[in-house]
Amino acid sequence: MGITTNHGAKSTYDSSTRSSLSALAKHSINTPLNQRFQDDPDRAMRYSSDIGPLFVDYSKHHIDKNILTTLCKLARDRGIPEQFEAFRAGAHLNNTEDRATNYPSLRRWAAEGQSGDDAIDSMYADMAKLVAAVRNGEMTGATGKPFTDIVNIGIGGSDFGPRLVCDALANQGTSSLKTHFAANIDPSVITEILTTIPAETTLFIVASKSFGTQETRSNATAARGWLRDKLNKDNVDPHFVAVTSKPESAEAFGIRKDLILCVPEWVGGRFSVWSAFGLAIALSSGMDNFKALLTGAYQIDQHVEHAPPEQNIPMILGLLDVWYRNAWGISSQAVLPYEHHLKLLPIYLQQLFMESAGKSVSCNGEVLQHGTGGVIWGTEGTNGQHSFHQLLHQGSDTIPCDFIASLQSYNPIGEQHQNLVANCFSQSLVLMQGQSATDIEQTLIKGGMAHDEAKQLAQHKAMLGNRPSTTILMEALNANALGALIALYEYRLFTASFVWGINPFDQWGVELGKQISQTLMGALSGDNTNPLDSSTAQLVDRYKNARKSKE
Ligand code: F6P
Repeated sequence: MGITTNHGAKSTYDSSTRSSLSALAKHSINTPLNQRFQDDPDRAMRYSSDIGPLFVDYSKHHIDKNILTTLCKLARDRGIPEQFEAFRAGAHLNNTEDRATNYPSLRRWAAEGQSGDDAIDSMYADMAKLVAAVRNGEMTGATGKPFTDIVNIGIGGSDFGPRLVCDALANQGTSSLKTHFAANIDPSVITEILTTIPAETTLFIVASKSFGTQETRSNATAARGWLRDKLNKDNVDPHFVAVTSKPESAEAFGIRKDLILCVPEWVGGRFSVWSAFGLAIALSSGMDNFKALLTGAYQIDQHVEHAPPEQNIPMILGLLDVWYRNAWGISSQAVLPYEHHLKLLPIYLQQLFMESAGKSVSCNGEVLQHGTGGVIWGTEGTNGQHSFHQLLHQGSDTIPCDFIASLQSYNPIGEQHQNLVANCFSQSLVLMQGQSATDIEQTLIKGGMAHDEAKQLAQHKAMLGNRPSTTILMEALNANALGALIALYEYRLFTASFVWGINPFDQWGVELGKQISQTLMGALSGDNTNPLDSSTAQLVDRYKNARKSKE
């Protein structure tokens, strides 16, 4: 196994460090957030900052000068700035796969015109050529017509990023091609897409880093079969391009060599939106928008490189994740975009955070004695307010929330956007302030309710408050702001992961499920050689019987 990732760490994240953090947390509970704002009129200004196209307000968190100093010292002790330096320098921080993690070099290509790595520069040159040929109609389908639709066939990191960005930019009149996404192996997905697209003018992107993913290969095979039938042609090659780190497998699958974009092996799936895996984005919104996405991320790269921990916003957010996870015992976090075109962000971040930080051994393979990545969830506001916000406000657990909003809407109707933003700001305010039972009781009594009844009802209506949140604002949702937002989350994840001592770049935990699904495929087709537990065997029988009864 390659190099460990403890570049520059001056201490371990040991139990005494964690105990000090817990003691600090216990002490900090004595000062409610409301109180902190009353005591310090400059608090909002002190704990907020512009960072590239984003404004981040983290003042509604359980922090003060002493806590931040302690957390920043932890960052230094754990060598976080040095790890970021190693990250930029191309060190193999992904030690279990012995791979580099030089994501800033991808963004450098967009902002500075070259990445410093020939393989990356040539990947983008091929991508730009392909994008231009499709968009100007030079590249056509098998019957000579220019493309009108693209279908990205990929899953996980080969789907979430392009899907998120295409959806986010769909609002802005930059799309010249209709974009569709097929991820799941559930045959309903590809079937329903195939019924809506024009065969002659659809381009399929088969996006798979490994080119071995079952879902993607099955959907691509189904799409090719459908296209051959529809066009009554055997050769439908001009309709299929591939994005992959395994060009030989794509070729063996039948993708034409000149239609394969090669992505360097070290680019991990959930971090691949910056690479040629962003092809659907560039095709639908243009290469300039794709570059703007990367330039937004580059602005965050620059910030992270130059800001000391005390002013380093992604680092502070990552340290807050450590603070809540290990000192407060919180293992859940909500992401609440008050922007319809960021509705896929929580799903994107689920893979980014949970596939990266869902680990319980250190980079060196030691079983960790502390909590690591928790659950990320959420949906667009205001929908969530009519669903799970009850739990955020009055549930028994504290769940830190991220509120994200843009200041301009692409669809202004009357006061609707203003009302959306008012809802966003009011939710974080209410989570923080809450409302005491005594105040509610008084109001009810003033309204004419009997004392006993008022006392009882007030208990149900009381809100504890003191629940922390971050608010992230952007002027308007565009490629640049979105790139910055995604990169902000990446660095936040890396910060927490480096403190925890885990490798956020591998995902060994998904492998066993893939292997066992092969066994189950055999069992469902009648292969009884692998013994199954009685529950699984019973489920298999049910499925086989249901299929038999349809024959
Ligand atoms: O199963 C998990 C995973 O390996 C993800 O990490 C990855 O993004 C996804 O599958 C898709 O993999 P590929 O791009 O190789 O098809």
